Amino acid sequence: MRVVPVALGARSYEVRIASGLLGDAAAHLAPLARKRPFVIVTDANVAPHAQRLAAVLAAADLASETIVLPAGEGTKSWAQLEALLDRLLDLGIERGDHVIALGGGVIGDLVGFASAILKRGCNFVQVPTTLLAQVDSSVGGKTAINSRAGKNLVGAFHQPALVLIDPDLLDTLPLREQRAGYAEVVKYGLIDDADFFAWCEGNGEALLAGDPDARAYAIAHSVGAKARIVGEDERETTGTRALLNLGHTFGHALEAETGFSDRLLHGEGVAAGMALAFAFSARQGLCPQADAERVAAHLEASGLPHDLASAGITASGGRLVEHMLHDKKMDAGTLPFLLARGIGATYLDRHVDLAEVAAFLDEQPRP
Ligand code: GLY
Repeated sequence: MRVVPVALGARSYEVRIASGLLGDAAAHLAPLARKRPFVIVTDANVAPHAQRLAAVLAAADLASETIVLPAGEGTKSWAQLEALLDRLLDLGIERGDHVIALGGGVIGDLVGFASAILKRGCNFVQVPTTLLAQVDSSVGGKTAINSRAGKNLVGAFHQPALVLIDPDLLDTLPLREQRAGYAEVVKYGLIDDADFFAWCEGNGEALLAGDPDARAYAIAHSVGAKARIVGEDERETTGTRALLNLGHTFGHALEAETGFSDRLLHGEGVAAGMALAFAFSARQGLCPQADAERVAAHLEASGLPHDLASAGITASGGRLVEHMLHDKKMDAGTLPFLLARGIGATYLDRHVDLAEVAAFLDEQPRP
């Protein structure tokens, strides 16, 4: 088992990663048990994993209740939050209890937020079942629901007490979602770890084919990078954690243009967004063109969108910049961008000229 500590003082916790970990979950959860049953919150797509967890707990004489929510982004809503809080209150959840979020980013974000506000904060455990959740959203304590004004606009920083990652759960994840999660793996290389990007170039194909060693290494390395960044800047105040948003500003515009729908998954938007951030950096003379081409080539080889054409975007640069202006990262009227001096050398720039961004986007090939 690999153990990655997230060092946050009194809010510190461990991320435990091992193939087959779900089968051993009782040993990890038993120390957190209290007099009431554990409550497992999951969605309809991964309910079989939740059933297995319940059986594993029962075999160790640990009782549990399971709440199954509808799968999909629509579940990160006020209505589902209210319903979940009522169910948890009906079950008598106390502040010292641990609610178990078993699912992808939607379940992790919703259950995390419910836990943040239930009785002014109860404990929760993340058991992520998608690659994206295993390498990104289950670690670091960002929780949220969506509102009428946009995605993730209502939420809280609330750290889990424990994260249990079983890479075997990815065996049943559709390839498209594996690829979308892989974009976030590549992100860690691009941010500040050129050697890891080179590892991705050499091993990404094996990882996506389900090679257990490649998977375990990539997950542990990604979680280690995230833990380090979150440990330095838990609430995204100094700019360090903002590096995790590489590709997200361009990606947000593409996701908004496609209506935050299945036309472009979040990780696909991030992939195209990272390639665009590098291409824009190269156009501005900040980064070697060869690096931008290498980034796009690896994303393309991984079956991910790597420009506007492959993301299916026909909108003008002006329209895409308009979407960016509604990004929650807007700060005092300016939009911070993650730009690159090269692979593994990204930085936050608060003074990007949006007219330049629009002109750059207009130059990009369309489908
Ligand atoms: N997914 C970006 C962050 O956790 O900060």
